[in-house]
Amino acid sequence: MINKQQILKKRPVGLPDKETWELIESKIQELNDGEMLIAQEYISLDPAMRGWMNQTRSYIPPVELGDVMRAGSVGKVIKTKGKTLFQVGDYLSGWGGVQNFCITKGENFHKVDPSRSSLSSYIGILGMPGMTAYFGILEVGEIKEGDVVLVSGAAGAVGSIVGQIAKIKGCRVVGIAGGKSKCNYLTEKLGFDGAIDYKNENVAKGIKKYCPKGIDVYFDNVGGEILDSALIFLRKNARVVICGAISQYNSKSNIKGPENYLSLLVNRASMKGMVVFDFAPKYSIAMIEMAGWIKEGKLIHKEDIYHGIENFRETFLRLFSGEKMGKLILKI
Ligand SMILES: NC(=O)c1ccc[n+]([C@@H]2O[C@H](COP(=O)([O-])OP(=O)(O)OC[C@H]3O[C@@H](n4cnc5c(N)ncnc54)[C@H](OP(=O)(O)O)[C@@H]3O)[C@@H](O)[C@H]2O)c1
Repeated sequence: MINKQQILKKRPVGLPDKETWELIESKIQELNDGEMLIAQEYISLDPAMRGWMNQTRSYIPPVELGDVMRAGSVGKVIKTKGKTLFQVGDYLSGWGGVQNFCITKGENFHKVDPSRSSLSSYIGILGMPGMTAYFGILEVGEIKEGDVVLVSGAAGAVGSIVGQIAKIKGCRVVGIAGGKSKCNYLTEKLGFDGAIDYKNENVAKGIKKYCPKGIDVYFDNVGGEILDSALIFLRKNARVVICGAISQYNSKSNIKGPENYLSLLVNRASMKGMVVFDFAPKYSIAMIEMAGWIKEGKLIHKEDIYHGIENFRETFLRLFSGEKMGKLILKI
């Protein structure tokens, strides 16, 4: 059997280009004792992957040059050797990387049940993005009924769930997204109270219009100028959740910090960073509650699925152009 792998060849400066990864084909090696062969079915494409390609200190080490590109995935065990953590036929989610097949001992993989939810949902709403949204808005944002919540990247995998959870908890929710159709989706399908199209509208004016009394929680997925605009409208004791800063990930110069940070002082507000992996011991609690909300029709999730390992780069770039809706996934 032949494996196809996307190897990190060159660290990108700015957006990844044709030199960044190399697609290689090789024969699948024999398994060693304790190893399993997983046939990957879906690969998760996440903005964080861009950060993992930089040679900088972060919450996990960078992907080394020559290594398979790190990515979350879900697939089926098709072969084992000796005593293994999982068995042939098991479906697993974990760090399978951007490749068709993955050989692993199974640490950092967990079993998923395709009869309870679609396989792809385990890298979406019931996977890392869903967990980020759940713990980010509930535990870091500490929302309470009646709060005014503003979320950027609102039509994305994390943002769309953040907004819906805040609605379930009785908050007023306003989203920021790029383009009219995404904004319509937020208000018409997901029940947001307002949506600001940052590509065609002035964000500060939009926040003033939809949050006339200010913001209690700002869930930031994008950083940059949008973060700066949100800071102007903080209310007393507001919480700013720093989840991501996608507007800065491909920056060729230094990342731009917020100018309006003194609003934190004036409003006795806080700004806190979060990394989803810190909440791993509690993922199962979140999954049960979110599965319940999905069943009740309170939580809607959208997946945008593209095909083929060969199309990895073009598909990955959609995260930055915004040419996708909901969770971006590559099907093998
Ligand atoms: N801290 C953690 O543990 C953690 C975990 C998961 C994700 N994250 C972060 O959460 C954020 C959202 O991740 P996701 O998986 O949900 O991705 P996503 O929202 O599904 O995809 C990225 C979206 O970002 C928007 N975007 C791209 N460039 C932008 C720019 N310059 N300004 C404003 N918006 C821009 C695009 O939507 P538009 O069409 O609306 O522009 C795009 O669809 C990312 O920053 C990611 O790094 C953090």
